[in-house]
Order: sequence, then structure tokens, then C-alpha cells
Amino acid sequence: MSQSPSRVLFVSSESRPFASTGGLADVAEALPVELNRIGVSVDRIMPLYRAVWEGQGKGDYQVERSPYTLQIPMGNEILPAEIFTAELQGTLTYFVGFEEYFDRIELYALPQREYSDNFSRFLFFQKAVVALIDALQAPYEVLHLNDWQCGLLPLLLEKGINGTGRGGREKTLFTIHNLAYQGLYPATGLYKTNLPGNFLDQYPSLEYYGKLNFMKAGLLGSDRVNTVSPTYAREILSPEFGCGLEGVLGSLPNPVVGIVNGVDTEVWNPETDPTLPKTYSSKSIAGKESCKKDLLKEVGLTYDKEVPLFVMISRLVDQKGIPVIGEAMERMMSLPMQFVLLGSGQEIYHNWLKDWNRKWPEHFKAIIGYNSDLSHRMEAGADFFLMPSQFEPCGLNQLYSLRYGTIPIVNQTGGLQDTVDDYRQNPKTGTGLRMSQYTPESFLECIRDAISLFHDKKKLRGIRQNGMRHDVTWTRTASQYLELYRELGEEK
Ligand code: ADP
Ligand code: GLC
Repeated sequence: MSQSPSRVLFVSSESRPFASTGGLADVAEALPVELNRIGVSVDRIMPLYRAVWEGQGKGDYQVERSPYTLQIPMGNEILPAEIFTAELQGTLTYFVGFEEYFDRIELYALPQREYSDNFSRFLFFQKAVVALIDALQAPYEVLHLNDWQCGLLPLLLEKGINGTGRGGREKTLFTIHNLAYQGLYPATGLYKTNLPGNFLDQYPSLEYYGKLNFMKAGLLGSDRVNTVSPTYAREILSPEFGCGLEGVLGSLPNPVVGIVNGVDTEVWNPETDPTLPKTYSSKSIAGKESCKKDLLKEVGLTYDKEVPLFVMISRLVDQKGIPVIGEAMERMMSLPMQFVLLGSGQEIYHNWLKDWNRKWPEHFKAIIGYNSDLSHRMEAGADFFLMPSQFEPCGLNQLYSLRYGTIPIVNQTGGLQDTVDDYRQNPKTGTGLRMSQYTPESFLECIRDAISLFHDKKKLRGIRQNGMRHDVTWTRTASQYLELYRELGEEK
């Protein structure tokens, strides 16, 4: 067996428990820890958002000032990056601090709009990553880059943050978590990169129809590209899912590999979860019914053991299938069911939810916001989990649902297709229900079948148990990443 690279730097724009908007943060939390466990030495680096300071109050970690203050050129300006660190679960995290850019309420956007200086913020972050690697005297063999916020790193590693060149270039693996967000900015920002020359034509990997595209630069500049499920890896080669980058993806010398995410089985464990009123396991499931009762009480709905409870926890954006739910809602609410939804995102959907709260106070409750503890209680208290995403690179909530004996109802796409097996096609091994098409009709058909299933207790138990036994651990995922790191190591 070949040697594994001894040092890896995992670069991402968010990571739990420090700061999170979605699934990337769950991956950035668990994957480096698991890799460290199996013998690869991985550090993490991310921006020092206000949330990181606020999270310190919970006592899991302590942020400390490092000796490094790095001078970062941004065009004609030089801005300071103060480096902080925290140690958690045997993994070291570096934070890039610059209050003007990162000491804000949100990570990327307020509900109404993106922060207008995201280009500068994440250019600065990436330059600080290179500056720190150099200050530490280049201890990393592989840089594991995640999503568009890391896309310029291959170019910066080669040309240096001043554009004067840089000795050596670490190997890079780029992971696509969501191709729909690309970091597309006006070409007028090019001077801030300090890349030599001032013409975008010199940088075909960065240029996208006259603009700067961080994602494209990451895909073309990295030594390997992967994404978070085999089906999404195939889907993004088509115009329907490729978000305009299908041609680029199809032209890569190494095909995009799909590696399904895992679940942090300590954080998501119904047998020990401290946020639950009652814990339970697949062998002794009674506690789940108590969780349902408590959850309904918490959100202000009446418990009825004959009525199935459907939940959804999601960013409220088009991707997540909110338009399909909108079209199905009236018909859904005429069925004997209850529905609790937790989420935040686009303002239009906040308005829909407020409207539904008024219209169906007995059957529906939306909680607008981000609430990690409540999300655990919802996974535990629900009978079914709704995830009718239009596309889904991997998806994590369906995996959490499987672990919590909550049957997922998903659209047939991306990671949802790779992780949920439809019991109607595979009665023995099935774990959930899959929509055959991305339509309200197909969604409603699943809801109706789920309600019938709920009353067939024997079948329900079998499907629940199949789900709870499904292997969702990080072990397999981490070993697949390790294999990619090894391949990169061998290319030296
Ligand atoms: P995505 O990353 O596209 O949002 P995933 O399914 O991969 O989708 O991950 C979503 C993660 O974010 C899950 O851990 C989910 O529980 C969490 N999450 C999303 N919205 C909320 C919310 N409003 N409150 C608590 N957790 C949320
Ligand atoms: C993205 C995707 C989601 C995936 C997550 C973690 O946010 O939308 O499907 O699970 O990244 O990889």
C-alpha cells in the first residue's frame, strides 16, 4: 500500500460547532476528526466570524490568539489577518480574523441580500490561508478545498499572494458541495487578486463570460475534483444540473468522483442525545413516542397517536423543493396529518410560512429561524421527514432521519437517490419513499402512501429498523478521501 500524505489542511468557509449555515459545516466538523482518527494528520482553517466567539460561551472550545499577524495584499491595500486557533476533538482549527470582514451577524448574507463585499472577504480569506502556510513553512502536502470560497487557492498557491510567484505548490483536492453557488463577480475586482498582469484573458480558468468565477477556477486548477454523492457526480455533467459548468466538468482529466457524506454518530445518536426528553434505540423504540408528544407540545400542536407527524428542517431556498410543497400544501392539509417545519432563508418563503401558520393552526406549525437543539428534537419526534429537493448534492437530514427511525420522503435526485431505498419497490430492504418525479402530484402520492404505512404498524417497524441499521458512519467516507489523498501523494 502506498504512503498516505502526512499533513492535510482542510479549508472551508464554515464548520460546526464554530459557525454554520448548512451541511458543509457538518462535514467540516466530522471529516477532519475522522481522518485524524485513522492516522492522517488534518488541520482545519476557516474565517473568524462573530458566531465563533459567541459559540465559545457553550464551553466546548477556547479560541486563542496565535503569534501570527499576516499582511495581506488586496490590490494597492495591505490588510492584516490575525490568526487564532482552537483545539477540539483532537483537531486543530486555525481562524482567519479581520473584524471588518468577519465580525458580522451572518456568514454570507442577510435574508434580503448577500453581503456586497463577499468577493473581497473570501479573496482575503484565501490569501490568508496561503500566507499562513508560508509562515508555518509549508507543512502541508495536500490542501482539501471546499466549494467556491476556496476556488482561487490553486492559482494563489502557484502565483503567490503578491503575484511574484511562490516556490512549490501543494497538491489540491476540490470538493463540490453545491454547484449552484459559484462565487461569480465582476472582472473589475481582478486587481485585488494581485495576480500578475491585469487581463482576465490570461486566466482562462477564472474567466466565465467576462466575469470572475471562483468555482470554475477551483475545478480547473485543482489536481482532483470530487463531489458528495455518485448520482450528483453524474448529474452535474448535464445542462439540467451543471449550472453552466457541465462543459468544464466534462473536460477534466480525472472524472469527478462521488463520495457520500457520513453522519457524526456521536452528535446524532438517539440513544444518548442530550437534547431529547427521552432517548431510544432500534431495540427499544418507546422513547420515540414520548419525543413526539413533547415536540408537539413544544410547538403548540395537539398530540394524537393516530395522526402521523411529518417534519422538515431546511434552508428555505428553491433547491429544497419549497415550491412543490407550496403547490401541494392545500391538498396536504386536507389529509389526516400534522406538519412541523423549521427553517430560514428567502423572504418570500418566510411569508408563505407565516401565512400557513394562520391558515392551518391545528395541523401546521412553522418555526422561522435556525435552532440546532430543536432540529434534534424534530428528528426524534417525527414519523416522517420531508426532503423534496429539486437537486441535492448529498443531503444530511435524510441520513439523520434514518438514524432516528424517522422515515425520509425524498425526491429521486443526487445523494437522496443514493441513500434512500424506496420500500414500495424493495419491501424487504426499503428505508423510505422516493418521489418518481419533481412534481406536487408525485410528492402527494408519497404523503398518502406514508399515511397508509403509518397505520400498518408491522410494516412501519420493519422500515424504521432497516433505516436505523443503515451504515451512515464517517468511517467509509473518510477512507475514500484517504484514497484520494494517497493518489495525490503518489503524483509528486
Ligand atoms: P444544505 O447543506 O444544502 O443546507 P444538508 O442536508 O446537507 O443541506 O444540511 C443541512 C444541515 O443544516 C443539517 O445539519 C440541518 O439540520 C441543518 N439546518 C438547516 N436549517 C436549519 C435550521 N433552520 N435549524 C437547524 N438546523 C438547520
Ligand atoms: C451542500 C449541499 C448538501 C450537502 C452539503 C454537505 O450544502 O446542498 O446536499 O449535503 O453541502 O456536503
